[in-house]
Amino acid sequence: MPGTRAVREFDEIAPVYDETREPLDAPTFDGLVHGLTEERVEQLLEVGVGTGRVAAPLGRRGMTVTGIDASREMLARARAKRIPRLVRGSAYRLPFRNRAFDGTLFVHVLHVLDDPASALREAARVSRRTVLALVSDRDRPAGGPDGGTQRQIREIMNEVLKEAGLAPPTRGRPWERERELLQRVPPNRSTRLSEREVTETLDERLARMGRRGNRWMLRAPPEVVERAIARVRERLGNPTFTYQRRYVLAAWDSDGLRGAGTPVALEQGT
Ligand SMILES: C[S@@+](CC[C@H](N)C(=O)[O-])C[C@H]1O[C@@H](n2cnc3c(N)ncnc32)[C@H](O)[C@@H]1O
Repeated sequence: MPGTRAVREFDEIAPVYDETREPLDAPTFDGLVHGLTEERVEQLLEVGVGTGRVAAPLGRRGMTVTGIDASREMLARARAKRIPRLVRGSAYRLPFRNRAFDGTLFVHVLHVLDDPASALREAARVSRRTVLALVSDRDRPAGGPDGGTQRQIREIMNEVLKEAGLAPPTRGRPWERERELLQRVPPNRSTRLSEREVTETLDERLARMGRRGNRWMLRAPPEVVERAIARVRERLGNPTFTYQRRYVLAAWDSDGLRGAGTPVALEQGT
């Protein structure tokens, strides 16, 4: 059974996961349902189902969803939502026969995996038609005031981590990792479901960080996170950020993904 570092971290995040993530907005969710219908997916497998944030409303829309996740604690939250078909297991070795589902869906999961291309191929094995991924993308002027403040936050956080003898995070940000994957393994179809401007203050962002709902915050002791947050607040005040958030539904034909590329080593206990 998978016991990677990422999975252990999701076990820890599970109690605050739902309250530190926004639900999908209506255009994104409706677009997802529309996309699944267009792809003729009725029997759906959601890989990395987590707390069932997406599987639960899909079930209420009449879809037959099976959810799989490697985290016991995330699944416990999904079970509490009475999602009927939940299985604990790894995205790299799905415990289902070939072509068991019409399609497979990943939502905010591919960026978490060390080898997302292998997970896509494994999903294609169990999917008769399609493998889908709902990915979010962001756009902000890199050199503009928002981009500059973001960089300053990272620099201050890294400074505090370094003082505490901790390594700064090295993984790219989620949307950067997913963007890179889509370039490396291009989908057959890609549909923009929504685009909206999100505005938040630094205080709101820091409050979210303080809840330790993301993985790199977990890697630092709480007092280091608090120190980093206090220093950011002291140096930067409370500016407002604005960025475009886009949701894209990427779809790969299963036949095309099966056998694509060479097998890559499975995720180790990173
Ligand atoms: C960011 S959460 C997304 C959860 C849900 N899809 C959502 O959008 O709210 C990522 C999920 O992937 C799961 N996960 C990470 N690595 C996995 C693996 N190797 N196999 C199966 N699930 C994995 C985590 O346990 C976590 O629940």
